[in-house]
Parts: sequence; C-alpha cells; structure tokens
Amino acid sequence: MRFHQVVCVTILISLFSCTKDKPPSGIDAAMYQEAIENDGFTWYKLTDVLLDKSAGSGHPQPYLRTRFNGIAASQLDGNGKVLDNVSFPEGSLIVKELYDNPQALFRYAMLLKASNNEFADNNGWVWGYINEDGGVAIPAEEKGAQCINCHSQQGNIDGTLMNKFFP
Ligand code: HEC
Repeated sequence: MRFHQVVCVTILISLFSCTKDKPPSGIDAAMYQEAIENDGFTWYKLTDVLLDKSAGSGHPQPYLRTRFNGIAASQLDGNGKVLDNVSFPEGSLIVKELYDNPQALFRYAMLLKASNNEFADNNGWVWGYINEDGGVAIPAEEKGAQCINCHSQQGNIDGTLMNKFFP
C-alpha cells in the first residue's frame, strides 16, 4: 500500500470506531457471552414478561426484565424474589435486559460477583453495561462509578434493587 492509502484506511477505521461502542474484551466479553448464551437462568418472580421501569430506575429504556444465573438463583425464594439480607456467592450473574420497545432488546445491565477481578467493587461486584450487539456502553474497568451510588440506596440487598422496586 502507498502512504496515502494507509492514511486513508486509518482515517476510515477511526471514523467507524467512533460511531460504534467498542466490542467487549476481558471480563466484559465474559459477562456478555454468558448473558447471550442464556443457559440456566431464572427470571425474577419466575416470569419473563416485560416490566415498566420503576420510578427509581437509572436506566432510560422504558421496559426491563431481570434474570439470575444458576449460582445467583440460589439466593431467590420460591416466588423468584431475592431472599432478605443475602450476599450473592462468587460466580453469580444478574442480567437486566433493557428494551426501547417490546420488540427490541437494547442493552444488558449486569452484575457479576467476582471478588478477585481487578474491576470488582468493595462488595465483589463487577458492573457491566453492554449493548445487545456487544458494543460496550460502559466498560467494567469504570468499576460501576455511574451505578454504585444509586444501587447503594436504603433497601438494597447486596447492591440489588429489584425487590425494593418490584416488591
Ligand atoms: C438512579 C439509580 C440507578 C442507577 C444510576 C443505576 N441503576 Fe441499575 N437499577 C436501578 C433500579 C431502580 C433497578 C430496579 C429495576 C428498575 O426499575 O430499573 C435497577 C436494576 C439493575 C439491575 C438488576 C439487578 C437488581 O436487582 O438491581 C442491574 C444488573 C443493574 N441495575 C445494573 C446497573 C448498572 C450496570 C448501572 C450503571 C451503568 C446501573 N444499574 C445504574 C437503579 C439504578
């Protein structure tokens, strides 16, 4: 390739990468993979119907539903609600699916219990915010900086809020 062609290609690549969120890597990719494989999850309150987001939601999309992987589901009661005062065990993954409209899954908001991960917060949670197509909206390396304050509010259970807002 000639020099000017290289420059052209480089500019094109950077233009495209600006218009899209970055693809996931590391712990983001691991969370995303488990979310899309969707193997052995249990829905909150045992139902996959879309819920209207609560008044307290920090997420702009109007509809949501939340599921727990096999490890996290060990902390649900017989009705699929989170037990009082639990601490989710290592390997727990909680996935909130966010929808712009009922036909279009837009993004996954995720909590992964991985205390030894470099991006875990003080409670051992790694925070994921990844679009349906894999684009990373907020990388785990931000350590939930835009999430934790709200999720620490009174009535949270190990940082989770479904029980409080969907009792
Ligand atoms: C202003 C408050 C607020 C902020 C900021 C916020 N959330 Fe939430 N989140 C909620 C509420 C309220 C719920 C309960 C469901 C709902 O109404 O959205 C929730 C639910 C969740 C759940 C389902 C598990 C549960 O029970 O809490 C996950 C996972 C989640 N949020 C991830 C995130 C991530 C990741 C971020 C940051 C990128 C974030 N949240 C920022 C308020 C917030």
